Amino acid sequence: MSAADPLDIRAVDTVDERMIDALAELWNGALPADLAITGAFVRYNVQPSAGVARRLFVAEVDGALAGAALATVLHGEPSVNSHGEGWIDLMAVAPAHRRRGLGRALLAAAEAWLAGQGCAQASIGAGPRPFTPGLPDPTDAAPFFAACRYESGGTAWDMASNLAGYTPPDVVREIAGVVRPATPRHADDLLAFLRREFPGRWRYEAEAFLADGGRLSDYMLLWTERGVDGCCLLTFPDSMRPMERYYPYRLPKPWGQLGSIGVSADRRGQGYGAALLDAGLRRLHDNGINGCVIDWTGLVDFYARFGFERYRSYTMLARSLQ
Ligand SMILES: CC(C)(COP(=O)(O)OP(=O)(O)OC[C@H]1O[C@@H](n2cnc3c(N)ncnc32)[C@H](O)[C@@H]1OP(=O)(O)O)[C@@H](O)C(=O)NCCC(=O)NCCS
Repeated sequence: MSAADPLDIRAVDTVDERMIDALAELWNGALPADLAITGAFVRYNVQPSAGVARRLFVAEVDGALAGAALATVLHGEPSVNSHGEGWIDLMAVAPAHRRRGLGRALLAAAEAWLAGQGCAQASIGAGPRPFTPGLPDPTDAAPFFAACRYESGGTAWDMASNLAGYTPPDVVREIAGVVRPATPRHADDLLAFLRREFPGRWRYEAEAFLADGGRLSDYMLLWTERGVDGCCLLTFPDSMRPMERYYPYRLPKPWGQLGSIGVSADRRGQGYGAALLDAGLRRLHDNGINGCVIDWTGLVDFYARFGFERYRSYTMLARSLQ
């Protein structure tokens, strides 16, 4: 195999600035324009996170990136990857180099690394700092992943609405509680709630959000007589989390996002979730947000009651590594 053969796969441990820009360029050349990303988003996603190890596999031709696969594993957090899964967070081959086995070779290298890290399965997207929750639909990549023995585990939706004319729907009722933006002194209340009610990914994400220096008031807290009984996370144009993850380009600016959102298990079915969602949407609306995404959900009917429509779907793909 010559050095210029794109099947010559190289493992990269440190993703430097040049590689960050090259990855954004590769992705933008490989995926549709309404899934565009910037180097800033790549940089956010490859920064260190507690328990996370990553390995990037690349193929280069004449010094330019021809393809890449980014593998991510999370150690010591079994409640976040309860199936022992690792993630293929980014997988792309430049159009000029397709159908020569490059995608398969990159994926195989990434899978072998995940298996060596102890992962029982590999999932497409959906990592702790995801580029996508799964394979974006529609896509020409589905036959590739089928050929590589990935199977569908269902569909996740990004829902969207223009909040310019938002008014609370009838489903919003009085509750025995209040919803307020969190303040820095509520960090422990938020984390205690999440450890109790959502100890997996949402708890991990909140800890990472705070460790990264995220603005606590991006969380809305539902308070009842016993303390925090719900929370939802908002993204504004000046929030730390990049809006690009929600690919809002087809929506009217300014863009915002809502989610995760959750209420204590024993308080569900009593209007608390609707009140929390309404408070989050009103806050986004009052801050001038128009196009708003509620990401990575299966609750299509619930959000439809608040004017949200299906915006983008993702096929959740995984394969066993055992
Ligand atoms: C998916 C992708 C990575 C495949 O890269 P590739 O280098 O062309 O894939 P390979 O050559 O290794 O293909 C392996 C097998 O997959 C199947 N396959 C790949 N692309 C296919 C296509 N467009 N149509 C039908 N089958 C396809 C074939 O069975 C192929 O084997 P064959 O060529 O011997 O028939 C590339 O098309 C891509 O970058 N797509 C856009 C990026 C994307 O959607 N990434 C997912 C988001 S994380």
